[in-house]
Amino acid sequence: MTAQPATETIEAGGAAVGRAARVIAAGGLVAFPTETVYGLGADAESGEAVARLYEAKGRPAFNPLIAHVPDLAAAKRLAHFDTAAARLAAAFWPGPLTLVLPRRADCPVAELATAGLDTIAVRVPSHPVARDILLAFGGAVVAPSANRSGHVSPTTAQHVLADLAGCIELIVDGGPTPMGLESTIVACLDRPALLRPGALPREAIEHVVPLADAPTAAAPAADEVPLAPGQLASHYAPRARLRLDAASVAPGEALLAFGPTPAAGTERAALVLNLSPRGDLIEAAARLFSHLRALDASGAATIAVMPVPRAGLGEAINDRLERAAAPRGR
Ligand code: TXA
Ligand code: MG
Repeated sequence: MTAQPATETIEAGGAAVGRAARVIAAGGLVAFPTETVYGLGADAESGEAVARLYEAKGRPAFNPLIAHVPDLAAAKRLAHFDTAAARLAAAFWPGPLTLVLPRRADCPVAELATAGLDTIAVRVPSHPVARDILLAFGGAVVAPSANRSGHVSPTTAQHVLADLAGCIELIVDGGPTPMGLESTIVACLDRPALLRPGALPREAIEHVVPLADAPTAAAPAADEVPLAPGQLASHYAPRARLRLDAASVAPGEALLAFGPTPAAGTERAALVLNLSPRGDLIEAAARLFSHLRALDASGAATIAVMPVPRAGLGEAINDRLERAAAPRGR
């Protein structure tokens, strides 16, 4: 995939589904209709594809993404369902309901897609084009709304083109989306809580399970407002202390490196992992959360983090590093 793809639009039907599945499998980005809004799909298991997706959207931070799957069986390979979650899935899937659930230990979705969290948002869309693409691809597809960050969600292929031309490989045009409003998001972690009002009304959900208002239920309508720590999704926090912008390593520290030039004293580090020896921010984003977890697991009390430039995806990388470095309980 090139850095600046020419964006092609094709009509849904016929060859479109196979094309879309092949582009996603090759690490590309494909916009497609769902019953709510157009989604921008990428292979959920590919950290690099997910990093490219954040870059195409121009997201100021790595908001966690919804994993789209064709059916409940596929969803159960990603997440744990308690009784309430199982009842909601039985009542409303396929359809405009997203469930935030505990992520399975063997969940194959890239850590970047769930922003390093122990939870994952999952949804089974009902739109036939979305379902056909998911079935043809055969794996989970992460798909935020197919707009640039800060813009409203797109309900036509023309909206998508206006926002993302030149940034994504393919748009599958299935006409206007039937609902035009994003899915309703319910967390089933402790007791079911509404995180984002959406296309499935609260009353319909409350016929099936009682809903607690999340303490953070002030979820933004068009969801693109950057999330502060403690809002909608919480953020990844390692056990070790993070020391940012480290030019040198103290004995016993673990080191999160970036780029070709070693930090002073690298040989003293307990463990060294490099986000991208060639200094590539897409590669660095793809590795961010898995490297942080591995360094944390080394047992070092402090993880020294070399400076990462703030251009492009570097802004989101630095945002997540700063959140991970923030003192607990803030
Ligand atoms: O209707 C929809 O849901 C569309 C279509 C394409 O499926 N998708 C969509 O995705 O609206 P997006 O990324 O624009 O919004 C997903 C929201 C974000 O606000 C994100 O923070 C939240 O879901 N989210 C994702 N994973 C989460 C998690 N583990 N915990 C809490 N919130 C989560
Ligand atoms: Mg969105």
